[in-house]
Amino acid sequence: MSNNIFKGLPSKAYTDKNFWAKESKNIFEKNWVFVGFKHELKNKGDVLPINVAEQPILLIKESENKINAFHNVCSHRCLKLVDKAKNVGQIISCPYHAWSYDLKGNLVASPHFGGTNNHQPKGFLRKKNGLKSVRVKIWHDWIFINLNNKALPFEKYASPLFKHLQNINLKKINPVATLDFGNINTNWKFLIENYIEPYHVQFVHKTTTSQPLKDHYTIVDGRCYGSAVDLNEESTSADSLAVSSKYLSLFPNFIIGTYYPGQIGVHLNIPVEPGITHQKRVIYLTEDMQLKKKEINKLRNLWWDVHKEDHEICERLQIGRLSSAAKNGGLLSPHWENSVRAFQKIVIKSINKS
Ligand SMILES: [Fe+2]
Repeated sequence: MSNNIFKGLPSKAYTDKNFWAKESKNIFEKNWVFVGFKHELKNKGDVLPINVAEQPILLIKESENKINAFHNVCSHRCLKLVDKAKNVGQIISCPYHAWSYDLKGNLVASPHFGGTNNHQPKGFLRKKNGLKSVRVKIWHDWIFINLNNKALPFEKYASPLFKHLQNINLKKINPVATLDFGNINTNWKFLIENYIEPYHVQFVHKTTTSQPLKDHYTIVDGRCYGSAVDLNEESTSADSLAVSSKYLSLFPNFIIGTYYPGQIGVHLNIPVEPGITHQKRVIYLTEDMQLKKKEINKLRNLWWDVHKEDHEICERLQIGRLSSAAKNGGLLSPHWENSVRAFQKIVIKSINKS
């Protein structure tokens, strides 16, 4: 076998609990992880509990332009503070002993902590016992967090991705539809890998898209990788994917697709277990694009069908990893799957840093 035929990741990378724990520690704690959409926290006081690297995290809308992230545990007994998305008004109150926090995470009530009517016993300072904050970055409509506080500044971290999006004005994007796929029975990496290689498109999506393989090329640029297709003639129909497109991912879990002339899509991929990932896609129109409700519905249905085709494949990839024949990984095309190879190399490098 020639040296440029690479093996994929071994099965355990997709199925093993120890590998999963290492990913939590070395990938999801140390990088900028995509965790949500800014527009979903509409009003001041909206809170959204999420899980990142197997830890409970809380997003809080403090004001029009400010979203805070905290560890989602009460400072008193470390109970998970918020268990569902809601609006809390001004105050987040722990259901256990009514310890309360404002939207900046300051502890503002610790009732009877020192005895009846003694709320602040000697040696206890509320201002030192607020919620533990987490580094957060809002980039356009997308919320990223960095748990270990040591990742590069986001602008530097994401610069390879910015470079490939230069021709799109992300300042005026309008979310028009959300596709919540719920839990998919596949490892998070299969969803990324599937998204960034163009090899499968002609086979898996033969009825939903018309983007010939020969027009595709892959993109590998540091922690950004993906594929693209440039077409000479664009379809003008709102429900066609026969348009010039880019499919990009920023390590580890951010996915963005751009579809000429006026549409983008962003995927939120949240790892739940080694074999389960929650996925959601938001469809945006850029500033020059207007679509009627009927056309948006067509678009939504088209994307739903395309992604269901992908999910079916990713679920079968996961099952395939139970075979002893799959132990050492499959094979990767040196041409069409070099983007997958690049992603897997970063995964392995991250894991080996432990
Ligand atoms: Fe696909």
